[in-house]
Amino acid sequence: MIDTHSHILPGVDDGSASLDDSLEMARAAYAGGIREIVCTPHLDDPDSPVLYRAGDSLVELRARLAEEDIGITLRLGFEVSANMAVFSEIEELASFAIEGGGSAVLVEVPHHGWPSRLEEAIFRMRTNGLTPVLAHPERNDHIQRDPDLLARCIGAGAVVQATAASLGPDFGKGTKRAFFRHLGLGQISLMGTDAHHHRRGSWTFTDTLSVVHKRLPAMDSALLVDGNPMRLLQGERLLPVERSADGASISWWRRRFLGVQS
Ligand SMILES: [Fe+2]
Repeated sequence: MIDTHSHILPGVDDGSASLDDSLEMARAAYAGGIREIVCTPHLDDPDSPVLYRAGDSLVELRARLAEEDIGITLRLGFEVSANMAVFSEIEELASFAIEGGGSAVLVEVPHHGWPSRLEEAIFRMRTNGLTPVLAHPERNDHIQRDPDLLARCIGAGAVVQATAASLGPDFGKGTKRAFFRHLGLGQISLMGTDAHHHRRGSWTFTDTLSVVHKRLPAMDSALLVDGNPMRLLQGERLLPVERSADGASISWWRRRFLGVQS
């Protein structure tokens, strides 16, 4: 599995405070089947010291993972605030894309309020060669009240990343309802953990996937945590996760290659 959203870098943001915290998270992630992690510290200012700290921290953590023989590959990205996505130049946003060839920029959807011109910013990013990835829109109060808002963002060119942490104890029933509503509608293309050290349940996909399997047994979860994350990192188009007749979701890929009927 590939985690495209993690605050595992030590001493950079509110995720991991120390190298020991990061190693504890990495060991748990490895035991939970994760083999690649995109490190996405919060970034809300283009001149933030986070930019410099992240590079040093990445080098340090990579070295320790190798020393400890923890087989996880790390990539650098950032979780860019929605305001930055609206106000930054395209060239600047491109410099915060996930390391590799994909040009994917993770955009943090706030929990409260809706940034004016965000849909316009999504369209501008997409039409200029970037892939805007909306992080945890299921937590946003406007999307919880107006589900069509997420459909409009997707129409403007966004891909949607739900997070494992959203099913934890910190985000309430509205978030869980929105998570399953948009998953059932086939609007969520991939999942990240949003791992923070202070949220132990967010270090792996294990708990989330077991809840998803119970609620939506036909869900092709491998596409959410492996297939589509890999395609995103390779700059390929994500595969759609379609809704089946009974409201569960299943991808055309699974039907075609595994012979599973919806
Ligand atoms: Fe995050």
